Amino acid sequence: MSSTVFTGKSALITGASAGLGEEFARQLVQWGATHLILTARRADRLLKLKADLLAKLPGLRVDTFTADLAASADVARLIDALDQQNIAPDILINNAGFGDLGTFETSDPAKIEAMLAVNIAALTRLTRWALPAMLVKRSGWICNVGSTAGLLPLPSFAVYGATKAYVNSFSEALRVELHGSGIFVTALLPGPVETEFGQVASRANSRRQFAPPAFLCVDKGDVVRETLDAMAHGKGRIIPGLPVRLPMLLVESVPRWLLRFIFNLTSGNFRRERQDSIKT
Ligand SMILES: NC(=O)c1ccc[n+]([C@@H]2O[C@H](COP(=O)([O-])OP(=O)(O)OC[C@H]3O[C@@H](n4cnc5c(N)ncnc54)[C@H](OP(=O)(O)O)[C@@H]3O)[C@@H](O)[C@H]2O)c1
Repeated sequence: MSSTVFTGKSALITGASAGLGEEFARQLVQWGATHLILTARRADRLLKLKADLLAKLPGLRVDTFTADLAASADVARLIDALDQQNIAPDILINNAGFGDLGTFETSDPAKIEAMLAVNIAALTRLTRWALPAMLVKRSGWICNVGSTAGLLPLPSFAVYGATKAYVNSFSEALRVELHGSGIFVTALLPGPVETEFGQVASRANSRRQFAPPAFLCVDKGDVVRETLDAMAHGKGRIIPGLPVRLPMLLVESVPRWLLRFIFNLTSGNFRRERQDSIKT
């Protein structure tokens, strides 16, 4: 690819060991980024990705940091390590996140707390950390990975949807605050994408599985391609894939009372599930 706005830039990507994060790393290099800072819990995956990237582009700089973003002490340790190495990314991709599929009343409180910490607290903390250096340079890109789940009341994904509503809202407000600063904030709102997300969100021994209709699933390569293009053009929000974008635009224009009425049609499932669990 010829020169792009990301040529020669550095990018910190959270959740780079799998799915969309790994894809961001691979594509940002094609867009000309020359320094990647990759973080996740699985060090072996990060090192494998680093080796793959360096085999193709020996001149690339890739730094890997293992961190559990659910632990605030680990987030602080990550930030210290980045500061010690004078790393100030031009691009921040706040991608790490996960869901929990099932009713709230049967959820594991520890998993819920970890979700709030990763999807909300770590994303917020890393943004706050990265911003001052971007402001000095008067240049930067922040991509926060929200979800279309944040636009809907999503029974069975209640807390996850709420964390993504936070990401969507935070990104929009931050974008306004940074207008004219040279820093662009883009919220990525994917619909269903085939990654490890469904497996991680599913609960052990649960019949409920993450199985979105195939026509709504967008390839992770296309999601990241559309997102980088949106970021390069300074767009505030991207919902990749027409089959997801169109229904979501419709959903956003539906009055709340009608949305509630439609979702209430599914409430019988939850009642039955509760009765079944009382019987067993
Ligand atoms: N796939 C979808 O259908 C979909 C739809 C809408 C939005 N999203 C969002 O897209 C983002 C990427 O998800 P994905 O689909 O690529 O899922 P994925 O394949 O499961 O990847 C999730 C990434 O997040 C990292 N992560 C999870 N918990 C972490 C923790 N405690 N500390 C550090 N890193 C952690 C994982 O790394 P380690 O396990 O190695 O730590 C992994 O690299 C998420 O924010 C997700 O909510 C996904």
